[in-house]
Amino acid sequence: MALFMLQNTYYVTSIEVIPTEARWHHGMNRSKPMVEAAEAPVVRRLTAAQLSQLAGLEDSNPSDVFREIDRLPTAIYASQERYDLEQERLFRGRPVPIGVSALLPTPRSHIAIDDYGTSVLLTRDEEGVVHAFFNVCTHRAIKLCQAHQTQKGGLVVCPYHAWSFDMKGRLKALPRPEIFPGLDKSQMGLVELECVEAGGLIWVNLDHRRKADFSVVTEQVGPDLDAFGLREQKVCHHLRVEVKANWKLIIDSFSENYHVTRLHSKSLGNMFVDRKTSCEKVGEHLRVMSGRAEYRQGADIATYEDFRKTAVAHYTIVPGALIITSPSYISVMLLSPQAVDRTVVNYYMMVDQLPETAKAIAHYDKSLALMTQLTTKEDFWVAELGTLGAKSGVVPYMTCGGMEREMVEFHRSVEAILKA
Ligand code: FES
Ligand SMILES: [Fe+2]
Repeated sequence: MALFMLQNTYYVTSIEVIPTEARWHHGMNRSKPMVEAAEAPVVRRLTAAQLSQLAGLEDSNPSDVFREIDRLPTAIYASQERYDLEQERLFRGRPVPIGVSALLPTPRSHIAIDDYGTSVLLTRDEEGVVHAFFNVCTHRAIKLCQAHQTQKGGLVVCPYHAWSFDMKGRLKALPRPEIFPGLDKSQMGLVELECVEAGGLIWVNLDHRRKADFSVVTEQVGPDLDAFGLREQKVCHHLRVEVKANWKLIIDSFSENYHVTRLHSKSLGNMFVDRKTSCEKVGEHLRVMSGRAEYRQGADIATYEDFRKTAVAHYTIVPGALIITSPSYISVMLLSPQAVDRTVVNYYMMVDQLPETAKAIAHYDKSLALMTQLTTKEDFWVAELGTLGAKSGVVPYMTCGGMEREMVEFHRSVEAILKA
C-alpha cells in the first residue's frame, strides 16, 4: 500500500492507492491467480427513462443555456449545527452507498469499511446475498475485522480470542467453549445493519435503531445503474482521498458544467463544450446527461456501448455518491464526511474487464493519472478553497447561474429531506 503526501501547493491531505485485482497484472503480486478469459461482451440496453432523457438532450449551442439565478446560503457549508443535522437525517436512517458490489466479488467474501463513523463489516454469504454488520466482536467488543481488502473463505476470526463468525454474522465457534457454561451461541451473533445491494452498489442504513426506506434504491436507482452494467464491473483502480472540504462542496464541484472548460482547461476541457445538460430526478437522486464535444443530437443511441462514446451520464446520489460514465470506465466516488470541513472520498475506477495486455494496462494507468489530476488538483482543490471561503462568512450567498442548475437541484433534494 503506497501512501504519499501531496505538495503543499495543494490542500488535499493525502491519497492512498489501494491495491486492486487489476494490479496483480502489474507485477505487484505475481502469486495471485490470473483472471479468467474475457467473456463475450453483453449488450446493455438503456432504460426507457434514460432513452427519453437522451432524446431531449440538445446539440451543442453555447448560447443556449438556462438563464436563471439561484442563491444558496454559504452557511450550509460551514455550520456545525447544519453538519450535525445532515449526519442525523441524511447519513443515518437512510440508505447510504458505502461500497461497490465488486468489493465482494464472490460468495463467502468480506471486507471492513471504516470511513463512516463506525466500522462496518460487509459480507457476501454462500447464496451471494450481501450483509452489513457492526464490525464489533460480541465477546469483548473489539474491532473484529481489520482488512480493507477483500478476504475470502467465509469466516471472520477475531484476533483477540479467536471467536469466529460466518458471513451471516452467526457465531460459529469459540475456543474452550466449556469455560462459558450455558452460553447460547445463537444469541452471540454480530449486530446487523439493514443492507441492500442494488445497481452495483452496497447501500447500508448506518442506524440500527431506525428503519430505512430502500424502495427508491431497489425500484429506481438500481435498475437505472444496471443499464450500465455497474453490478458486473470490476475495480481497476481504487484511491482513498482525504479532502479538507465540506462534503457538499465536493458534490458541487462535480455537479455543474460551468467550470468544465475553465477549471479543467488543461486536462479534459477540450473534450467538452459549454452546452445545456439534461437533469431528471430519480427519486431524490439526480440523473444528468450531457454530450461530449463530438455528441450530435439525434444520434442513433440504444445501448450503453453507443452512449458512452459521445455522451456522459452523471448520477448524484443523495447523500454522498457520484457516478460518472466515461468511454472506457465508470467513476464511482463514495463520500464519507468526517467533519464539517473534512471528507474522505473513495474513488473506484470500474471496468468491464480487468486490463491484461500492456496496452490496456497503460490505458487505464493513463486514465488514473487523468482522474488523479482532475480530482485532487482541480475539483477537490476548489472544494477546499470553497470551504475556506465559506468559513470566512464574507460572501453570504452562492450565486448560481443557468449552467449550475443541477447543483441547485441537489441542494433542493437535500433541503427537502432535512425539512421532512
Ligand atoms: S474479543 Fe473477540 S474473541 Fe475475544
Ligand atoms: Fe470538474
